[in-house]
Amino acid sequence: MEKIHLPNFSPTLTLTLTLTLFILSFSSATQTLPTKSCSTQDHGSTLQVFHVYSPCSPFKPTKPVSWEESVLQMQAQDQARLNQLLSSKVVARKSVAPIASGRQIVQSPTYIVRANVGTPPQTLLMAVDTSNDAAWIPCNGCVGCSSVVFNSGSSSTFNPLGCDAAQCKQVPSPTCGGGSCSFNMTYGGSTLAANLSQDTMTLATDPIPSYTFGCIQRTTGSSVPPQGLLGLGRGSLSLLSQTQSLYKSTFSYCLPSFKSLNFSGSLRLGPVGQPLRIKTTPLLRNPRRSSLYYVNLVGIRVGRKVVDIPPPALGFNPTTGAGTVFDSGTVFTRLVTPAYEAVRNEFRKRVKGGGNVTSLGGFDTCYSGSIITPTITFMFAGMNVTLPPDNLLIHSTAGSLSCLAMAAAPDNVNSVLNVIASMQQQNHRILIDVPNNRLGVAREPCS
Ligand SMILES: *[C@@H]1O[C@H](CO)[C@@H](O)[C@H](O)[C@H]1NC(C)=O
Ligand SMILES: *[C@@H]1O[C@H](CO)[C@@H](O)[C@H](O)[C@H]1NC(C)=O
Ligand SMILES: *[C@@H]1O[C@H](CO)[C@@H](O)[C@H](O)[C@H]1NC(C)=O
Ligand SMILES: *[C@@H]1O[C@H](CO)[C@@H](O)[C@H](O)[C@H]1NC(C)=O
Ligand SMILES: *[C@@H]1O[C@H](CO)[C@@H](O)[C@H](O)[C@H]1NC(C)=O
Repeated sequence: MEKIHLPNFSPTLTLTLTLTLFILSFSSATQTLPTKSCSTQDHGSTLQVFHVYSPCSPFKPTKPVSWEESVLQMQAQDQARLNQLLSSKVVARKSVAPIASGRQIVQSPTYIVRANVGTPPQTLLMAVDTSNDAAWIPCNGCVGCSSVVFNSGSSSTFNPLGCDAAQCKQVPSPTCGGGSCSFNMTYGGSTLAANLSQDTMTLATDPIPSYTFGCIQRTTGSSVPPQGLLGLGRGSLSLLSQTQSLYKSTFSYCLPSFKSLNFSGSLRLGPVGQPLRIKTTPLLRNPRRSSLYYVNLVGIRVGRKVVDIPPPALGFNPTTGAGTVFDSGTVFTRLVTPAYEAVRNEFRKRVKGGGNVTSLGGFDTCYSGSIITPTITFMFAGMNVTLPPDNLLIHSTAGSLSCLAMAAAPDNVNSVLNVIASMQQQNHRILIDVPNNRLGVAREPCS
C-alpha cells in the first residue's frame, strides 16, 4: 500500500517570499491581459492559479531586491529541489513513508490556489505542486504556524482520525495521544507535528467530503508553506487518488508568466472541459519516483537542427528513476549535462547579435545586447513542443541582459533526471490524463 507523502520545505521559503520578482521581467512579446480581480470566485471545477508574487497573494514580496538576486535565489531553490529529487531513494512499496516522509522536495511551490476547508468553509491559499502527494493544512492551536490557520473547532464536518483508522497505518510511528492519530516529521530545516484528520474540502464549487490530510499542530523553523499544500502528484492517497470518482485522475493547468503583475492561470480538475484538440505524449509511471509525471523525451531541436545528445541522457529507466518529468515546482528547466551542453552550444551558434556570451549565476548563456534567438523544440514521443522566446529567455528589466533560462541538472551518479520546469510551461496548457496515460501540451496565453 502506498501512502500520502508530505513534502519538505526549505528554510529559505520565508526568505524567498520576501524577495521580489516585480523587477524581473520575462521576455518581451506583449499581450494585453484581462485584469482579473483577486476576489473573483472560482467556478465549476476550475480554480484560478496565482503566482506567490501576484498582488492577489498574501505571500507577495514586501521589499524589492535586485533582478540578479531574484534570479540567483530562484536558481538556488531549484538546485535544492533537484538535489532532493535526485537523492530520493528507491521506495519499496512496503516501506513508503506516508503522510510523514516520502520523497522530499525542498522548495516552496511557486503557485497557489484558493481552497475552502470545513463547514462552513474557511478559505486557505494552498500551494499546488504537481510532483507531490502531500495533503497538509495548518490547524488551530498550531505553534509556529502563520496567523492564517484552519479552525477545526468551528467546522461541523471535521473529523480527527483515531489510531484505529486504516489511514493511520500509513503514518510512520504514529502516536495515539488523546486517541487521535498523530505523527512527527522533519522537513527541510524544520519539524512538524500533525494529527491525521478529515474534513470536507471544496475546490471551486466541488465539495470533496472526508478529505484526508495532516492537520499541523506544531512547526519549528521557517520552512512551512504558510497555508498548506495541495499535492497534485499521482501517488496513492494524493488528492487525485482521493477524488477518483470525481476527477478521474485528470486535470490540466496553465501557469501564468511573471510578466504581468495581474496574472492568474487556471487549474481545471476532472475530465470535463479539457481540451479536445491537444498534442499528447504517453505518460509514464516510474516506480522509483511514483509521484512524478514522466514522459519520454526523445530529442531536442534548436532552430532546425536536432542536436546530438547521447541516448542515455534522455533514457527512461524504471530501475534508476532516470527520465524526463514535467514539474510545476522547479522554475528553470534542467537537462542532464550532455544534453544541456549540446543544446546550449547549438543555441549560442544560432543566436544573432548580443556580443560576447556572459554568465549570471548558474546561467551560462547570457547576452548583454539585443539578440535574435532560435526556437527550442522538445521532441517527445509523438509530440513536438516548440517554445517561443518568451519561454526561453529571462530579461533584466532594463533589457540589458538576457539569459537562456535553462541549466545543467546537478550531477548524480545514480540517476539522471531532466525536468521541464514552470518557466518553460508558462502560457501553455498542460493536460494530465492518467486513465489514458497521456500528457498534453497546447499553447494558451493564460496570463
Ligand atoms: C491533535 O491531537 C492532540 C492529541 O494528540 C489533541 O490534543 C489536539 O487537540 C488535536 N488537535 C486538533 C486540531 O484536532
Ligand atoms: C513529537 O515530538 C515531541 C517532541 O520531541 C514529542 O513530545 C511528541 O510526543 C512527539 N509526537 C509524536 C506523535 O511522535
Ligand atoms: C492590476 O490590477 C489593479 C487592480 O485590479 C490595477 O489597479 C493595476 O493597474 C493593474 N496592474 C497592471 C500592471 O495591469
Ligand atoms: C569579446 O571578447 C573578445 C575577447 O575576449 C574581446 O576582444 C572583445 O572586445 C569582446 N567584445 C565585446 C563586444 O565585449
Ligand atoms: C518532430 O520533429 C522531428 C524533427 O523535425 C520530426 O522528424 C518528427 O516527425 C516530428 N514529430 C512529430 C510528432 O511531429
